[in-house]
Amino acid sequence: MQNIMVTGGAGFIGCNFVRLLLEKYADYKITVYDKLTYAGRLENLQDVAAQYPDRYTFVQGDICDATQVEQTVKDYTIDTIVNFAAESHVDRSIMNPDAFIKTDVYGTYVLLETARKFGNLRYHQISTDEVYGHIHGEERSLETDAMAPRSPYAASKASADHLVNAYYITFGLPITITRGANNIGPFQYPEKVIPLFVTNALNDQKLPVYGDGQQMRDYQYVMDHCEGIDLVLHKGVIGEVYNIGTGKEMTNLAMVEILLDEIGKPRSLIQHVEDRLGHDRRYCMDVRKIIALGWEPDYTCEEAIRATARWYVANRAWWEPILSGEFKEYYQKMYGNRKVLA
Ligand code: NAD
Ligand code: DAU
Repeated sequence: MQNIMVTGGAGFIGCNFVRLLLEKYADYKITVYDKLTYAGRLENLQDVAAQYPDRYTFVQGDICDATQVEQTVKDYTIDTIVNFAAESHVDRSIMNPDAFIKTDVYGTYVLLETARKFGNLRYHQISTDEVYGHIHGEERSLETDAMAPRSPYAASKASADHLVNAYYITFGLPITITRGANNIGPFQYPEKVIPLFVTNALNDQKLPVYGDGQQMRDYQYVMDHCEGIDLVLHKGVIGEVYNIGTGKEMTNLAMVEILLDEIGKPRSLIQHVEDRLGHDRRYCMDVRKIIALGWEPDYTCEEAIRATARWYVANRAWWEPILSGEFKEYYQKMYGNRKVLA
């Protein structure tokens, strides 16, 4: 493994993963292949481009474009593909699922076909705990559980997982899959709940909590997730799936309170609004398999929330220009006419 193509590497998790690989493996060359949608930002990789001019290359392209994907694999003698590229926001998938089916399903198929065509390249798929659907009571999702996705986003990611597994079984493609819990940390686009709430709070705007705020999520620090992916990429058993998360969930209201306290803003900013359609109540995974492989998280959910809040406080120059662009229109559509609950 030496020439790695990281698709979606200009997005939130991808850019953190690229940084980790370049720092850790002095002999690796990384080609980021990214369409640069609203969520993909070259400035996320500015420091990387400056620091590793000989080992980092950026190619702008769509994973649905088989010709360009194949050309890139040829040009950079790629031996490994790690696929982060996706439409990733649940609310947008409810508003318009089209791009999710194209990128998350068809795009994954194009990458798998390319990997097969070039002599069965090593392939790793970044998946999500959302493929399990929402989990009741005290249960935790195991890698062997049946998938039961409930949003268009989750269904598109589950479809991709099925395809990846099919390429392993049918063609012997050397694949692994990781399913991550909610990531938070540097460079997350402010449509996702934690950066949205921190940036709103810093601007003294209300925080739109969906429904009763009792939904539960496992908020993990993005670098913990990236280290888990790295471990599976190098030491995971081919054909296997690994869950990655802290294994400990908390309610959204508890998350908001930690966040407001960290940045010294009042609880009166919390505003309960009309719920997300089909909102999954709780995700929580059993993470014993990745721990047995040698991984452990450095951050608890609370530490991850606090560290993330501090990053946004210190990096206004990164997020302020985003708020005035495409995001403004999106925010108005998503929240402008949303019913406020009593
Ligand atoms: P993101 O939205 O921040 O980044 C996605 C990246 O993919 C962007 O750079 C975008 O330009 C690129 N992209 C989109 N469509 C493309 C296409 N057709 N061709 C090439 N590039 C394209 O997403 P993220 O939060 O960094 O998530 C990355 C991956 O991790 C996704 O597969 C997501 O499903 C998965 N995941 C995310 C989380 C999370 O909490 N954010 C948790 C578990 C798994
Ligand atoms: O669980 C992994 C998934 O986590 C990833 O696969 C997705 O790519 C990622 O977007 C994330 O999905 P969620 O839907 O859990 O994340 P989001 O940040 O959108 O919402 C987290 C919780 O906060 C969820 O219960 C909905 C709630 N929420 C969200 C927003 C945007 C609010 O209450 N208000 C909001 O404005």
